[in-house]
Amino acid sequence: MARPAAPIKVTGAFFILAVILSPAERGEESREILPPQGEVRMTNQGRFAKIHLMDLNDLKTRAFHEIAEAKEVKALEGARVKYLGRERGELTKILRSLKDRPLADRQKVGPLANILRKEIEDGLKAKFKKLEEKQIKRSAQLDVSMPGKKIKLGHLHPLTLIENKIKEIFSGLNFSVVEGPEVESDYYNFDALNIPANHPARDMWDTFWLRQNGIKNSERLLLRTHTSPMQIRYMETHEPPFQIIVPGRVFRYEAIDASHEINFHQVEGLMVGESVSLANFKYIITEFLKRLFDENTQVRFRPSYFPFVEPGLEIDIKLGGDWLEVMGAGMVHPKVFDAVKYNPKFVKGFAFGLGLERMAMIKYKIPDIRMFYENDMRFLKQF
Ligand code: DAH
Repeated sequence: MARPAAPIKVTGAFFILAVILSPAERGEESREILPPQGEVRMTNQGRFAKIHLMDLNDLKTRAFHEIAEAKEVKALEGARVKYLGRERGELTKILRSLKDRPLADRQKVGPLANILRKEIEDGLKAKFKKLEEKQIKRSAQLDVSMPGKKIKLGHLHPLTLIENKIKEIFSGLNFSVVEGPEVESDYYNFDALNIPANHPARDMWDTFWLRQNGIKNSERLLLRTHTSPMQIRYMETHEPPFQIIVPGRVFRYEAIDASHEINFHQVEGLMVGESVSLANFKYIITEFLKRLFDENTQVRFRPSYFPFVEPGLEIDIKLGGDWLEVMGAGMVHPKVFDAVKYNPKFVKGFAFGLGLERMAMIKYKIPDIRMFYENDMRFLKQF
């Protein structure tokens, strides 16, 4: 703490008295005050003078304490306004009140108050200068060549990366990207796709049903077991020709292991037009797989069964000597066209469905499907 400057010099033949009055005398509650370095002296004449001189002393102590403590220009300016402010400054008020006092009081208090004002002004000025210098020094210490703090950026999840890549490839082949609801009805998920209730094919999809009361079977709600229901929804509201892909989340009620999750992702594909053929499908899917994996990827088409296609296919790619199944597909079944009131005599189409996790596992050599959902940073950071 800085020490106040020289004591206030008192001119004239005043009776000398140290000015520390008891708090009771000042009508205040007891509080600790630092003894002023320079004493304001006063006569014993007149209560006004006595109180004012005491106030001056106290004010001086406080003002210099605040000046010493100020660590910033703003705090210092606050102290200036508090004591010397034109309107409400404590010292200003004392000085202003003098004019209503008798000449004797004015002569006693006035000069001391003016000296104190000058002292506070000087103290402020010195401290302002000091803070300014400190500020300049501080900015001179700024090393603009120092490397900045690195901001850690997040990045996309491997499933999002592969989804984006797949969307990009199909967009390049003139497919549109659409999405559908994750909560579906029995009708869209099964019936309309030629999978009637009690059909053994329903066993292929172990389903999460939503609990509902008094609802007809076909309206019962479930978590979609595949993205194929969007084939129906899209055809109900659009006219061919078109070609779409439908990426999205699907759910299966099954045991989790390295290659099965209860929640995973698929991309559905559907192309419908007057003369869409299996040859078109072979070309598009081979092109897609080559762009996704590698120009030399070997692709195999093998007959299979899905209720909503005829014929049905499974597509494999060769990976390290082994054939690996990557998607199901086929020519859209006439009953599916019936369900959406397309005439199967005039329109043909192919459909396919692939698992996003499976694609990412192949592309990034991920051994276990559960890794996608564990949120282990050691895994995620690698993408
Ligand atoms: N929806 C089928 C599944 O989840 C996959 C599939 C197979 C989709 C054949 C198709 C298709 O569009 O034609 O197993």
